[in-house]
Amino acid sequence: MEIVRQSVYDYPKYYDVLFGSDWKAEYEFLCDCFEHYAKRPVKRLLEPACGTGRLLFRFAQAGYEVAGLDLNEKAVEYCNRRFQRLGLSGHVWVGDMANFRVKRKYDAAFNTINSFRHLPDDKGAFGHLACMREAVAKGGLYILGFHLTPNRPPKCTEESWIVRRGHLQVNSWMKTISLDRRRREEKVYFQFDVYTPRRTLRIVNEFVFRTYTWQQFHRLVQKVGGWEIAGTHDFAYRIDEPITVDDYTEDVVYVLRRV
Ligand SMILES: C[S@@+](CC[C@H](N)C(=O)[O-])C[C@H]1O[C@@H](n2cnc3c(N)ncnc32)[C@H](O)[C@@H]1O
Repeated sequence: MEIVRQSVYDYPKYYDVLFGSDWKAEYEFLCDCFEHYAKRPVKRLLEPACGTGRLLFRFAQAGYEVAGLDLNEKAVEYCNRRFQRLGLSGHVWVGDMANFRVKRKYDAAFNTINSFRHLPDDKGAFGHLACMREAVAKGGLYILGFHLTPNRPPKCTEESWIVRRGHLQVNSWMKTISLDRRRREEKVYFQFDVYTPRRTLRIVNEFVFRTYTWQQFHRLVQKVGGWEIAGTHDFAYRIDEPITVDDYTEDVVYVLRRV
């Protein structure tokens, strides 16, 4: 098997097969959040760290005005090409979610599956929530989903799944290698095995996620200002089942509302 050591984000097609397959519950939950928590009609949507836009293009198809940004040029190109191919008017650009500006504010924004934890330090995290504060209109939402570090050994340290699209199959495996609470770093190993009729490829890489206890995240939100925590849910994505965040919480979706 051919093995490459590279970011899985550099392979948008394979990333999209894997993560794009599991979009419906997340998509419907986000729509429910717009209804339930926003204090303004939601028409314009922004996704920072949008990747391939696996959710954005669904929203565009449903008639929302969509935009996004991502550091990875290949993902951005893949996303914009799909908009064009499907005749959708969305647009995403290459940019850093810790430092960007928008011309016109959005009604809601979302950022799920841990992308926020790619920001390596306080400066980046603060900068991001401050940029989002300027990008979202009052009464609008920022829906942020990620894993908190609980006050005990985390239950979930490994995940694997398999997805097939046509002749393409992607098997993925993700595993925590180390967790350093003092330095606030979780090192993660990621492996994609890709099978096509002509090629078998293993993509491996490691990256470091910043860790957050719930207290660290709540303090950050307070320090940035301009946001209230309107609701908290988990990755079950059920609008009628909010959760109370505590020392044991791991997966969480914060619904931040712009005040
Ligand atoms: C787990 S993927 C999520 C992509 C997409 N949000 C989704 O739900 O499929 C994380 C994305 O964050 C992007 N990313 C990491 N750091 C970033 C930064 N500072 N600014 C913008 N994008 C960033 C990566 O390039 C990658 O596409």
